[in-house]
Amino acid sequence: MKLLITGGSGLLGSKVAEIALARGEEVFSGYAHNLPEYGRAVKFDLLDETSISELVGRIEPEVIIHSAALTDVDRCEREKDLAYKMNVEGTRALAKAAEKSASFMVYISSDYVFDGNRGTYCEDDRTDPVSYYGLSKLKGEQFCTGCIARTCVIYGSRPASGKVNFALWLLNSLKSGKPVRVVTDQFITPTLNTNLAAMVLEVADRRLAGVYNLAGATRISRYDFARLMADVFDLDSSLIIPSRMADLKWDAKRPMDSSLATFKANRELVEKPLSVKEALKTLKDEISKNEVR
Ligand SMILES: NC(=O)c1ccc[n+]([C@@H]2O[C@H](COP(=O)([O-])OP(=O)(O)OC[C@H]3O[C@@H](n4cnc5c(N)ncnc54)[C@H](OP(=O)(O)O)[C@@H]3O)[C@@H](O)[C@H]2O)c1
Repeated sequence: MKLLITGGSGLLGSKVAEIALARGEEVFSGYAHNLPEYGRAVKFDLLDETSISELVGRIEPEVIIHSAALTDVDRCEREKDLAYKMNVEGTRALAKAAEKSASFMVYISSDYVFDGNRGTYCEDDRTDPVSYYGLSKLKGEQFCTGCIARTCVIYGSRPASGKVNFALWLLNSLKSGKPVRVVTDQFITPTLNTNLAAMVLEVADRRLAGVYNLAGATRISRYDFARLMADVFDLDSSLIIPSRMADLKWDAKRPMDSSLATFKANRELVEKPLSVKEALKTLKDEISKNEVR
């Protein structure tokens, strides 16, 4: 399969590229600033429609996994124009190019399309984002005629796109004896990038169109997730200080409970959403393998 991954240097895209390459697929990894580690690196700019259509026209991929986005939720709130251009117009341009080259598109969307008042959202539940990031991701969905894969709090064993993810931040802090504040009143379905990448590749392989919640199988508060991680990695959980969302000074409002129901993925896919305990065990194995490398 000839695959173009936008966001090939990112937390999800780098893992999709790594797994696809190991399977022998032909992988093109799109990036803007940070050179991707896996696949043939192709630089382009989501803000530039011409660079998007040229890239897709040149590669003619069978599948496009659109994972690139302005993912900084607070920055999207402060710089709405930029968020619109990248997440909405960039997606529109990519979808147009995908249609022209008859590529199947998988658009990576977000739990933030929901207001978070209820949680355990199914694919057809009513969307109502409370942040501009969420709104921009939702507006991007309308252009995708392939698969819209919604996910939630991605974590993984390595930094990507110049950033550490929640799990690495927590583990690094606990390892260095630094206390951390983690909210008790925000509920999520945390998603290991390896598990997510495998599910994304399956929907791409099988050309499954429509909305799919591709996320971890366990709904948990951020605080309990952090405690569980400390447990699995044998670190001092007393360094995790319970805090409330209202105590944190964010520019963007966050949904309280944006957990995603993964029944559909569990029913239809061979690659199943992992429980948080299974996923953390995998994370631990991956981190120890990285340390040996
Ligand atoms: N992370 C989460 O918890 C989470 C939760 C729900 C949904 N999502 C969605 O999942 C997807 C993947 O998220 P992620 O955390 O893996 O992303 P990420 O690590 O923040 O990576 C973002 C990617 O976008 C690329 N990018 C940034 N500006 C670009 C531009 N102007 N032109 C082209 N590419 C550009 C980056 O390339 P450079 O590295 O070269 O800058 C990077 O590869 C996103 O669509 C996000 O909205 C994420």
